[in-house]
Amino acid sequence: MRTPIAREFGIELPLFAFSHCRDVVAAVTKAGGMGVLGAAWMTPEELEMSIDWIRARVDGKPFGVDLVFPGTHGDEKDPADYLKAIPAEHFAFVKTLLDGAGIEDLPPGDRDDFMAEYATKMAMTNQKSKRQLEVALDNRLNFIVGALGVTPKWVIDAAHARSIKVGALVGSARHAAKQRDAGVDVLVAQGTEAGGSVGDVASMVLWPQVVDEARGLPVLAAGGVGRGSQILAALALGCQGVWLGSLWLGTAESELDIDMRERLFRAGSEDAALSKAMTGKQGRMLRTKYVDSWEAPGAPQFLSWPMQSILGGYPFRRAARGHNLDYWTYSCGQIVGDMREHTTVKGEIERLLNEYVESLERLNATSSWE
Ligand SMILES: Cc1cc2nc3c(=O)[nH]c(=O)nc-3n(C[C@H](O)[C@H](O)[C@H](O)COP(=O)(O)O)c2cc1C
Repeated sequence: MRTPIAREFGIELPLFAFSHCRDVVAAVTKAGGMGVLGAAWMTPEELEMSIDWIRARVDGKPFGVDLVFPGTHGDEKDPADYLKAIPAEHFAFVKTLLDGAGIEDLPPGDRDDFMAEYATKMAMTNQKSKRQLEVALDNRLNFIVGALGVTPKWVIDAAHARSIKVGALVGSARHAAKQRDAGVDVLVAQGTEAGGSVGDVASMVLWPQVVDEARGLPVLAAGGVGRGSQILAALALGCQGVWLGSLWLGTAESELDIDMRERLFRAGSEDAALSKAMTGKQGRMLRTKYVDSWEAPGAPQFLSWPMQSILGGYPFRRAARGHNLDYWTYSCGQIVGDMREHTTVKGEIERLLNEYVESLERLNATSSWE
């Protein structure tokens, strides 16, 4: 697995791990891959603290950060304005849903304080992205990845001025061409199997299409990778490495508490549903009563991003307090059907490597040049 991208980044394995959890990022980086911290929701101060925390644990090894550059969504609205723009009908819909399930409401003062804080977290503005980017640049991180939309020129120029590589997630060949022309260094081809915001094209079709469009730029395969055999497949399809997100949710290092993890272990691949319930954009997440209610006839229209995400703070907070995971959901991909028990990052990486070698041997045994 000594692919050019692994050599360029100076990592032992071309295994990239997206996670919102600094513990996962540090553990993957320490194990020889590269952790990339999902920081879109963090304040610049939180990001700085997380970077310091990771750096203190990875023995100088490289790691990265994943940010959202909102582009046309980046009007500099006050987060409180987003909150005010949520129609009363939408608040009433989620309130009635949770009232009906007998989940205790939040005291009004607590609810308002929490929602004000949550709106600040979830609102994505260019100003916030710029400040987050400055933190990543000042800390000379090794990889800055853009999650949504075409990566703006100011991001690419600022990163390149400090010799930092820029990556971008893409869900179609068309997006890949746009990001390539914008000047990114690495394309992360994310198939619809993935957890989080996704497109419609499956990894098996998407990966080689993006490799073609990349015209020599390295491509990382994302979406549906949770076994060593799938890593081998990704390399066979022309990718230089893999980018995994869902798998880490089941590890001891994950941000999820034990109840939530166990809920994922009971889910099948078909329970990783496509819905706009979380963010207002199509995403893949655990199917729960909350998600189904939004998809049922009579539910209000989804709000646009980031308002749907901001609204979600209220029911999720209530559901968490009431220990009722039916009225919560979390991004997860179809590999959730392969996740069955508590694991650790180190254990998962060892398993992936063993499976990769077994798959390679099996494949080699089927080829003969005589
Ligand atoms: C819980 C979760 C949250 C995610 N949030 C983001 C995000 O904020 N930014 C981003 O670029 N990708 C996000 N993703 C997508 C991952 O970067 C990655 O592409 C995806 O998880 C790969 O597919 P897999 O889930 O099959 O491993 C998220 C994925 C998960 C599972």
